[in-house]
Amino acid sequence: MSLSEAKAADSHGEKAVERKSVYVYEAPVRIWHWVNAFCILALALTGYFIGSPLPTVPGEASANFLMGYIRFTHFAAGQILAVFLLLRIYWAFVGNSHARQIFYVPFWRGSFWREWLHEVKWYAFLTAKPKKYIGHNPLAQSAMFVMLTLPLIFMVITGFALYSEGAGRDSWEYVLFGWVFTLFPNSQDVHTLHHLGMWVIIIFVMVHIYVAVREDIMSRQSIISSMISGERMFKDEDD
Ligand code: HEM
Ligand code: HEM
Repeated sequence: MSLSEAKAADSHGEKAVERKSVYVYEAPVRIWHWVNAFCILALALTGYFIGSPLPTVPGEASANFLMGYIRFTHFAAGQILAVFLLLRIYWAFVGNSHARQIFYVPFWRGSFWREWLHEVKWYAFLTAKPKKYIGHNPLAQSAMFVMLTLPLIFMVITGFALYSEGAGRDSWEYVLFGWVFTLFPNSQDVHTLHHLGMWVIIIFVMVHIYVAVREDIMSRQSIISSMISGERMFKDEDD
């Protein structure tokens, strides 16, 4: 039975509704999204304790290795995040146009900022009708670029620079990232900036999850399931 026949021939007298869906987020983008989210969860939790360590406890060191496990988790998750970020950058070149959105802001395009303003009003409950986008809306795109893409690159660079202090001057970490200490000769400054970067990302994540749930309820299009299935479904007849 075709969709239109199904619509007409519903046995309970109710009309079945046909909905359009578009394939937006390719598998590598979705896999990266969730791997990245779990890495950030692990990094923020363990990073917080690296910055504010637990008190030293008496007893045999091998029985009290908690700080060691915390640091190991941080460094392991940091390296996974870095590898997936590189793969994600590769996918920005070979994937579809939506895969490129979080890597730039079309700063000189007037229409981008007009639509950006419309999104600000929509999120502030100042306008009643949302615009529909197949990929990210302009406000999301600019927020992701400024508050996640750039901070992530910054965290990887400063993270590996800090790691190189322990790994030594003949380590690949120092060869690639030792220049950070030319910019900030005091290692404490790098710690503080790396720490500050965490709060920028945490603020992004809190707002991000709120708006994802809000959009899912209010904008008449699928949002959260789009980052799982890749498909964006439009729920209004006139879309
Ligand atoms: C979202 C990403 C990340 C977050 C939220 C994060 C968070 C943190 C925080 C809060 C600290 C404590 C800083 C302080 O107060 O001294 C820290 C330390 C550190 N992080 Fe990260 N980090 C991230 C990514 C990375 C990456 C990619 C690496 C690379 C392997 C890394 C390696 C380190 C190292 C080596 C330290 C210093 C440990 C020490 O003091 O001995 N981090 N991180
Ligand atoms: C550490 C946590 C998270 C971070 C850093 C993060 C970051 C991002 C980024 C960068 C994108 C753009 C993906 C791309 O184009 O490559 C995105 C999209 C998305 N994220 Fe997250 N995310 C996180 C957690 C979550 C959670 C928990 C949810 C679910 C409630 C979620 C729902 C979504 C959705 C629905 C989209 C697609 C938005 C759209 O439809 O345009 N995210 N996220």
